Amino acid sequence: MTPPLDRLGRPLRDLRISVTDRCNFRCTYCMPKEVYGRDHAFLDRAELLRFGEIEAVVRAAVALGVRKVRLTGGEPLLRRELEWLVRGLSRIEGLEDIALTTNGSLLERKARLLKEAGLSRVTVSLDSLDDATFRRMNDVDFPVARVLAGIDAALEAGFGPVKVNMVVKRGLNDQDLVPMARHFYGRPVILRFIEYMDVGTTNGWRLEDVVPAAEIVARLTAELPLRPLEPNYPGEVALRYATADGRAELGVIASVTRPFCRGCHRARLSADGRLYTCLFAATGFDLKRLLREDDADHAALRTALAGLWATRADRYSEVRTAETAALKSKVEMSYIGG
Ligand code: GTP
Ligand code: 5AD
Ligand code: SF4
Ligand code: SF4
Repeated sequence: MTPPLDRLGRPLRDLRISVTDRCNFRCTYCMPKEVYGRDHAFLDRAELLRFGEIEAVVRAAVALGVRKVRLTGGEPLLRRELEWLVRGLSRIEGLEDIALTTNGSLLERKARLLKEAGLSRVTVSLDSLDDATFRRMNDVDFPVARVLAGIDAALEAGFGPVKVNMVVKRGLNDQDLVPMARHFYGRPVILRFIEYMDVGTTNGWRLEDVVPAAEIVARLTAELPLRPLEPNYPGEVALRYATADGRAELGVIASVTRPFCRGCHRARLSADGRLYTCLFAATGFDLKRLLREDDADHAALRTALAGLWATRADRYSEVRTAETAALKSKVEMSYIGG
């Protein structure tokens, strides 16, 4: 089957897989406690795709051009024995890159197992180095020191360079831009600053809370001169920079002020097996039903995926307005994955 292009001529290269909608953090910009409280109904275990089902979807996606998968959540390391999924995926011919985005809280326990299972890369979310700010942001009183220990564990297991993602929210953690850059300077870590996005409907997003990429770069440059680098590959999400001495690489992900939909080659699979063609989509296609009720084989899955991709015309970030930001239909980031 010829790999499909979507309606804007974009190929499918990257599949992001949420393996659980649960998380042990309650980051205020992602899973605010008022919404994700004690009585919040998470997915039942039976609703989650089993590892074999995820592998079947990935095999079909690889046949259509996917070369990279990223495991996300929620917090993916809460999914029991995730290393077994990694091991299964690592056997899929044609899949070149298996990455993980984690909050780092369980990495000390898991990094070595994941490496042995064949995971290629690790990205850790960390929004501040200041313990009080970090605890306020994760809202479960989780200390910075344990995430830093998780990053160290990943480096020791051989995952260097590790990427670190910092979501920047004005008035909350923007004072930490330079301290974060200084902390990771000279270490095998690529720090990326992410513009706070209007994903989902529960985080109370306001444009005023976004620190634009241009301002982030200007504030960094004042202390640590930077020069831009070429993208590693077409459609790369982060704008890359190096310090003038070349000792550190930094990135800025400007989904709000410099959208990158034109090169978007990502599909997303939710933990309960729905396929979404955009982070800001309202609905996803129920692949689990196809897998379970219709007993779909490889060819049927491939045909379904190809059809979904071919009809896609998503470019949410390019057409974002105050009205779209306020839409109540968008899925949550913790459900669909970063
Ligand atoms: P690699 O290049 O493979 O290392 O990954 P990446 O640069 O795509 O980074 P990662 O997957 O860690 O994504 C970083 C952040 O960028 C995510 O947490 C999101 O906040 C944002 N992001 C990633 N993909 C998209 C996308 O398709 N659309 C939008 N709007 N934001 C995205
Ligand atoms: N805006 C930008 N990034 C976000 N993330 C979660 N919610 C948002 C948001 N509203 C980031 C996390 C993590 C990745 C999975 O997505 O911090 O790095
Ligand atoms: Fe959990 Fe990541 Fe969302 Fe924070 S941003 S609540 S760590 S899924
Ligand atoms: Fe892709 Fe949608 Fe993100 Fe644009 S907003 S880059 S189409 S996922």
